[in-house]
Amino acid sequence: MTSPAPGQDVAVDPLAGTASQADISAEMAAIGRQHDEAGDVVTQPRLDYAPYRSSTLRHPTLPLVRVDPEGVEREAPAFGHRDVSPLEADLTIQHHGEPVGERMIVTGRLLDGEGRPVRGQLVEVWQANAAGRYVHQRDQHPAPLDPNFTGVGRCLTRPDGSYRFTTVKPGPYPWKNHRNAWRPAHIHFSVFGQDFTQRMVTQMYFPGDPLFDLDPIYQSVVGPAARARLVAAYDHDVTRPEWCTGYRWDIVLTGTHRTWTEPGDAR
Ligand SMILES: [Fe+2]
Repeated sequence: MTSPAPGQDVAVDPLAGTASQADISAEMAAIGRQHDEAGDVVTQPRLDYAPYRSSTLRHPTLPLVRVDPEGVEREAPAFGHRDVSPLEADLTIQHHGEPVGERMIVTGRLLDGEGRPVRGQLVEVWQANAAGRYVHQRDQHPAPLDPNFTGVGRCLTRPDGSYRFTTVKPGPYPWKNHRNAWRPAHIHFSVFGQDFTQRMVTQMYFPGDPLFDLDPIYQSVVGPAARARLVAAYDHDVTRPEWCTGYRWDIVLTGTHRTWTEPGDAR
């Protein structure tokens, strides 16, 4: 695939949305004003957030089905403690060479609503490479794959509830929600829980990203405080000299400071 010439509009794909960024931004601003006027405190995303186009058709319209967790376990994915190697938390050592990009440590704690650590939990991450490209058949946009980076990792939280990954900072990528739509750099996180019915999926962002105001997925969390909790903090104490930068991000499972989690397959 050839790269587009500078300035060329790449959103001529028939599958791409036709709205402009200005259209989407105006829609997001209007919803934000409604939220501000209502004065409510929202921690979770709008499931049918129209600026995030595909959410209007695929959002749940019925209450969640309650199922017996033990029954689900007979067929659902499962994991055992012996299956998770400590090496799986380092996304930079999965191939023969070093991946390209800003090497970094991402660490934090998994906490319940009372601030207590949640230990022994499976935390999974997946992300684009430094150029913003996923190793996935559906991602064919003209950014390079990195032969030394797959972009998946996992670990178990320690007794103090902490997790820790070594990886490279992902790049932003286009996603066709509308013309010239770009996602802010992010890492997808899954927290498994005690069984598959408790699994939660969310996204972590990086401080100061200029795409925050333009992104309908980030903005679908209409409460500004809840949005801010999705952004990691640069932490110089996490960095390693001559080796990598460091970011810190806690995940809160319940309560008023609960981390936003997604109901489906947000990209
Ligand atoms: Fe993504």
